[in-house]
Amino acid sequence: MDRSPPLLGTERTGPDLSQEGGERPDDWHVAHFTNPRFTSPLSLMPSWEFLGDRDISRLIAYMQAEGGKDADLRVARQSYWKTQSVAAHRAGSDENVQWLHKHIPEVWPNMPNPYPATDESILRGKKTYQEFCIGCHGTVGDGRGLALPFLDPPPLDFTQLRRNLVQGKYIGGILYYQIMNGITGTSMPYFKRFLESEKIWDVSNYVAVNFIGYTDSDIAPKGIDAAYELEWVNPYRTPEDLEKEGGLPPIISESHPDRPPSFGPGHGHMFPWRKQGTEEQGTDQPIKH
Ligand code: HEC
Repeated sequence: MDRSPPLLGTERTGPDLSQEGGERPDDWHVAHFTNPRFTSPLSLMPSWEFLGDRDISRLIAYMQAEGGKDADLRVARQSYWKTQSVAAHRAGSDENVQWLHKHIPEVWPNMPNPYPATDESILRGKKTYQEFCIGCHGTVGDGRGLALPFLDPPPLDFTQLRRNLVQGKYIGGILYYQIMNGITGTSMPYFKRFLESEKIWDVSNYVAVNFIGYTDSDIAPKGIDAAYELEWVNPYRTPEDLEKEGGLPPIISESHPDRPPSFGPGHGHMFPWRKQGTEEQGTDQPIKH
């Protein structure tokens, strides 16, 4: 008889918690024990809300000790940064964003997203957003996800970034850096163990286009050549340019009619590197832009 247990992917056994102490601050744990889907939308773990506040805080104390002395150091670091992040949040929304950006190493704030914000990139980003971010940052990116009541500082309202672009135009590198590394002392997790680089750039494009209303995707300086999809012209204008022109911000829609022609039959873009009617037809080598 087959006695193997029913498999639900490798999630069946849950993650290794032996070094969990100090990986995340307490507020993340409160939201997560109350309902794991609040912080991690795909989680299979049951809710432990019925335990009540006292037992949940005991459980959290236990989790934060997992990992011995290393855990103690991480817990101390979380609480040091928690004090600062809460103070920054209390100081006001622009002050908070400036505080967040102040800690990002030099190259990132001036780095645009090297991936073109094609419909495909945005759709991939949307999927990642729904799977990992929506419980905190919310369906419209205003930080009002289901985890909000448990978290201090609250998840960032991305729309605030529109008036905090670096030099009035850069934001891609900042989004990438923060998503990759998380923000110690806040519930913002690091995703470098769960999302490969391309997914982080795609979700950055999604956040930028849908919630900030602008992406610096693929503008100069192009440090990393990742333009392997379509020839793509950035239709987004910086808030400053729009103001000068007295124009309206772009309509945020996945099928924006002004966006360049997209993937699909009839556009000759299905395999953009296969130039139609030339001898290059049939090569599998993408054209480098
Ligand atoms: C458990 C809740 C939680 C989850 C899940 C979460 N975030 Fe966050 N996020 C936060 C919090 C809290 C902050 C920082 C708030 C503060 O200090 O003002 C933050 C900040 C950020 C920032 C910083 C922006 C800046 O300008 O510095 C970015 C970018 C971000 N989140 C993107 C994401 C993305 C993308 C995902 C999913 C892949 C995600 N977050 C998942 C809670 C979360």
